[in-house]
Amino acid sequence: MRMFCLLLAAVISPVFTEDWRANVVQNLDALVTSCVVVPCSFSHPKENLPSSRLRGIWHFSTDKSKRIYYQDITQVLENFRGRTRLLGHLGQDNCTLEITDVKDHDNGPFCFRIELARTETDTSTVDKFSFVESCVTLRMLPDPPKPTLSHPKTAIQDRPYIISCSVRHTCPSHVPKLTWSRGTADEITEVYKDTGFGYWEAQSILTIVPDEKDDHSEVTCTAQFNGQKTSSTSLTLNVKRTENYNHIIIPAVAAFGTAVISAVFCIFMVKRYKTRIAELQNQEGSVWNRLSRLSRRRRT
Ligand SMILES: *[C@@H]1O[C@H](CO)[C@@H](O)[C@H](O)[C@H]1NC(C)=O
Repeated sequence: MRMFCLLLAAVISPVFTEDWRANVVQNLDALVTSCVVVPCSFSHPKENLPSSRLRGIWHFSTDKSKRIYYQDITQVLENFRGRTRLLGHLGQDNCTLEITDVKDHDNGPFCFRIELARTETDTSTVDKFSFVESCVTLRMLPDPPKPTLSHPKTAIQDRPYIISCSVRHTCPSHVPKLTWSRGTADEITEVYKDTGFGYWEAQSILTIVPDEKDDHSEVTCTAQFNGQKTSSTSLTLNVKRTENYNHIIIPAVAAFGTAVISAVFCIFMVKRYKTRIAELQNQEGSVWNRLSRLSRRRRT
């Protein structure tokens, strides 16, 4: 039984042993003059490799000796010297590469390769592992992408209005700066998201409380990328006034007031005339009476 188990273990174990493998994104956009971070990780069969004995190399796929990154800068192509560095720690199986000041001919393909030195100071190597099957090709962008704005269609006067501005980038080590044509720092929230496969999203959220005079005014979001290239997108505010009935209520109240006052005045006047007429009629009556008395006296 024990023999069988040992035999089984011997058959199965190669299946479980990990090979040297690297995970590198295959394609990535890179903005010329800016920077690009190529995510890279690797796995290996040996446990706890001392990172001091690991040598990471990034080279052109066409020629292993054309190195774009290496510890010893003298072995790096002149054109790439000082522009490349490993952001990841090899001891943590991380071979993430950063290229700064991207030139329009930096398209690659670039491949990662790792070497294990015999001792820390030894430059000769025992094991060499090349991951030529895991290379990245950069797609050069001469112009930066435009930020995308998202917001409700109409703003309502005196109510908070939220505008989001986001832009895609491939350089998380020097993120693009998003700025607004209006708004103060306390009205702005910034968010940085990893959208996977080497792409990131920088987002800025602006909250404004528009008033009537903001109708038809422009709000612009500008993205400034590492290397100074900029792009921007604008929107025209469409401010809806909050319902306000003062323009109806005030004249209505005034008209009603005037009507009441005139009515009171009319009633008062009518009453006065009525009494006056009655008085006159009484006087008339007395005059008539006198006249009739006189005429009767004459006849007699
Ligand atoms: C590798 O290193 C980079 C840079 O420090 C980091 O952003 C990334 O999360 C690391 N990747 C992994 C898989 O740990």
